[in-house]
Amino acid sequence: MNNVYITRKERFNAAHRLFRPEFTDAENLRIFGKCSNPNWHGHNYTLWVTVKGEVCNSTGFVADLKELSLIINEKVIILLDHRNINLEVDFMSGKLASTENLTIAIWNKLDEPVKKLGASLHCVKVEETDNNMVEYFGPSK
Ligand code: NI
Repeated sequence: MNNVYITRKERFNAAHRLFRPEFTDAENLRIFGKCSNPNWHGHNYTLWVTVKGEVCNSTGFVADLKELSLIINEKVIILLDHRNINLEVDFMSGKLASTENLTIAIWNKLDEPVKKLGASLHCVKVEETDNNMVEYFGPSK
């Protein structure tokens, strides 16, 4: 195998709150900080999706990045953009709306569709702020 890794960058804006309902607001503030604000808040998220595969002789591509962008938008971005992650995003239902859980959930939404491009998902990276980002490389084998 001679894998090459290609990455598509997308963006979405969404609201969330990090909290456990059984905790008081003070406890939530201590554990989750500003992200526990009871009245929600938003982030400008950046998403990087890296797929790997061999370079096709006829196209020179690992996968068509336009097609990858369409998949990411259809499966993930339209469901998240300008939404409240806690209240409106089915694939995050019942999960704490952390960037870690969001990153894993995005992987699960993209893993199968990416295979249809003839490539495989390598990494999902979500940046919540300039200083905080999460990477997921799939379940341990
Ligand atoms: Ni936050």
